[in-house]
Amino acid sequence: MSTAQFPAGFRWGVATSAFQIEGGAHEGGRGQSIWDTFAAIPGAIAHGEHADVAADHYHHYRTDVALLQRLGVDSYRMSFAWPRIQPTGAGTVNSAGLDFYDRLIDELCSAGISPVGTLYHWDLPQSLEDKGGWLARDTAHRFAEYAQLLGERFSDRIDTWIPINEPMVTSVYGYGIGEYAPGRMLLLDALPTAHYQHLAHGLAVRALRAAGVDAVGTANNHGPVWPAGETTADHAAAGSLDALINRLFADPVLLGSYPTELLRYLPAEYEADLDTIAAPLDFYGVNYYEPQLAAAPAEDSPLPFELRPVEGYAMTSNDSPIVPEGLHELLLEMHHRYGAALPPIQITENGCSFADEPDADGTVHDPERIDFLSRHLTALADAMRDGVDVRGYFVWSLLDNFEWSHGYEPRFGLAHVEYETQRRRPKDSFFWYRDRIAEHR
Ligand code: FCB
Repeated sequence: MSTAQFPAGFRWGVATSAFQIEGGAHEGGRGQSIWDTFAAIPGAIAHGEHADVAADHYHHYRTDVALLQRLGVDSYRMSFAWPRIQPTGAGTVNSAGLDFYDRLIDELCSAGISPVGTLYHWDLPQSLEDKGGWLARDTAHRFAEYAQLLGERFSDRIDTWIPINEPMVTSVYGYGIGEYAPGRMLLLDALPTAHYQHLAHGLAVRALRAAGVDAVGTANNHGPVWPAGETTADHAAAGSLDALINRLFADPVLLGSYPTELLRYLPAEYEADLDTIAAPLDFYGVNYYEPQLAAAPAEDSPLPFELRPVEGYAMTSNDSPIVPEGLHELLLEMHHRYGAALPPIQITENGCSFADEPDADGTVHDPERIDFLSRHLTALADAMRDGVDVRGYFVWSLLDNFEWSHGYEPRFGLAHVEYETQRRRPKDSFFWYRDRIAEHR
């Protein structure tokens, strides 16, 4: 049971993403995304699964908003499926797609829940990938157009926006090592995708502000990086990994600069874009899951570090070590590293997967999740006591969902989804989180 205390006005939320819950893949004029294409590649997704139906939120969104209301959250972080709005990622707008989000957003607003709009959570229209995807500068301009469209349509009901979810994961897992869509294996040659996503972010911030939105931020995946041993080489390796997964994504946005050691991998024209990329933000969103461990690489390695497993901690069902103190460490590190350049923080994602299944009476007992959330909230409160300005916390996720390459096996939800019937069952952690929120009102 968490005893952590949070100030009045602290924002309590949960997060989801369109591709992971919506389904309705071939309905309402939705175009093809890179994740549809990727999921069709044999072996790309565990058990050959795909997200054509997923948690069928496209048809069950009213039930899901009712769940949110029962949970008592202030905010719901959701994403828009770009291919539902612009099936080819450019020009033609699909009005049925906009209508779906109109209905969802109206439902949220009448339930008294503020939507936080993520423009892009990895489901790039396939037509844009065919023209180079995030390796192409033009994708950033297409994104700006899409941002303007959504800003103009929804800024009357959505005041808080996040252009791009976790550009690190797209660059590293999508274009670097090919574990995620679009499945490219370019290693460090994937780094132009970081720059073009940053440019897209900066152009979207401008477009959203022009549309009159109140607050714009980020949702970046960060974690502390530890050296595997005490040697200088291990420390250097940890520094390199930190530059690649943390600083490459925070420095340009917050400081208007890139880590020097990565400059040679960027597009030649990068410097001229830095002012756009570093447009001031109202909040910095941190998605925290786990720390990383780096050791000196083998002599013939193409990378300046070797990843090692973080050992000695309990693990989630997705093999992620449970390290709440890593959140405290990360936030203090960012606070010291970026100083006055760091806007107030929102924890835009934090959560865990376990093999949750209902008992015979339909209850779902997930004590490990309660323990996980409780300990992370304590770590968060500790960081705040140490001076870090954090304004909100979003649990990943409201529902069990399609966990990318891992398919449906990892269950991250506060509510269990029985995929055969689409029945939602709040888990014990749902009621626990509901009570924590109520306590802080
Ligand atoms: C984050 C993603 C989110 C989900 C969680 C578990 O990296 O943003 O979509 O997959 O991990």
